[in-house]
Amino acid sequence: MTTVTEDGELTGLRDALGLLKDREQVAVRLLESSAKHSFDPDRELDWDAPVEDGKWFWPPELVSLYDTPMWRRMSEEQRFDLARHEAASLASLGIWFEIILMQLLVRHIYDKSVTSAHVRYALTEIADECRHSMMFARMIQKGGAPTYPVTRLNHNLARVLKTVSTTPGSFACTLLGEEILDWMQRLTFPDERVQTIVRGVTRIHVVEEARHVRYAREELRRQMVTAPRWERELTRLSCGEAARVFSIAFVNPQVYTDVGLDRREAVAQVKASGHRREVMQSGAKRLTDFLDDIGVLRGPGRRLWKSSGLLA
Ligand SMILES: [Fe+2]
Ligand SMILES: [Fe+2]
Repeated sequence: MTTVTEDGELTGLRDALGLLKDREQVAVRLLESSAKHSFDPDRELDWDAPVEDGKWFWPPELVSLYDTPMWRRMSEEQRFDLARHEAASLASLGIWFEIILMQLLVRHIYDKSVTSAHVRYALTEIADECRHSMMFARMIQKGGAPTYPVTRLNHNLARVLKTVSTTPGSFACTLLGEEILDWMQRLTFPDERVQTIVRGVTRIHVVEEARHVRYAREELRRQMVTAPRWERELTRLSCGEAARVFSIAFVNPQVYTDVGLDRREAVAQVKASGHRREVMQSGAKRLTDFLDDIGVLRGPGRRLWKSSGLLA
């Protein structure tokens, strides 16, 4: 924001102060909400209850192969099995994201006032994510499926990203990781066909995650106004690239092999599935509308979003 006149400079300063005040007010509200609605999954959920017969680990409509020719040929037992493995795959992805996010948040607050509400809320969110990652790990163990790490390449790309990414880039990626999984979890926790433990895990996550999304959105909105031009351009590009990687890494294809399916064929059918495209685009809609609104979905970045299949 360049201003030449004295008046102009004053206006610029007032805007900046206004944004910081707004940042503190948002954080205060989020802290109040955290004090009222936070959960300890170890105590809150019954981890000793047996796995329920005839219940899904993930709603079938949200399973990648749903409604494909392959799905129609699968036995009911194999469908249940695939849902259980996909739940483990998504929980593994969730833990990966959360561990990245914790580091991004630590970096975000490193230079900020330790007594501000903004920093106190970031620390609260880190504590939330610590509990979530432990909760997801317990859920994977409970289901009896393995953990599904991302590819070595993505694992190492993220190692670089979480170390060097800019503030707006970090918050844009945070939203990508949080909002689509959140949309799926909002459909999962009220679903009576789903295992009680999975419903409990997703309910806790949805309640606490709503605050994380708010925090990241407000910060990204501010950053897209105040960050220098190169940083805004870089955010558009890196966020588009993250969307592309995310859409590929979303479900680990090893799940198909592990339930006795032809991995290549399964991946091809998921790619061709109109139902799946609709699920992923519906899941991303709230996020892409928001990103469009604050000017993240422009230029080459927008093309990357389109190629990810998440943007219609
Ligand atoms: Fe989380
Ligand atoms: Fe989160």
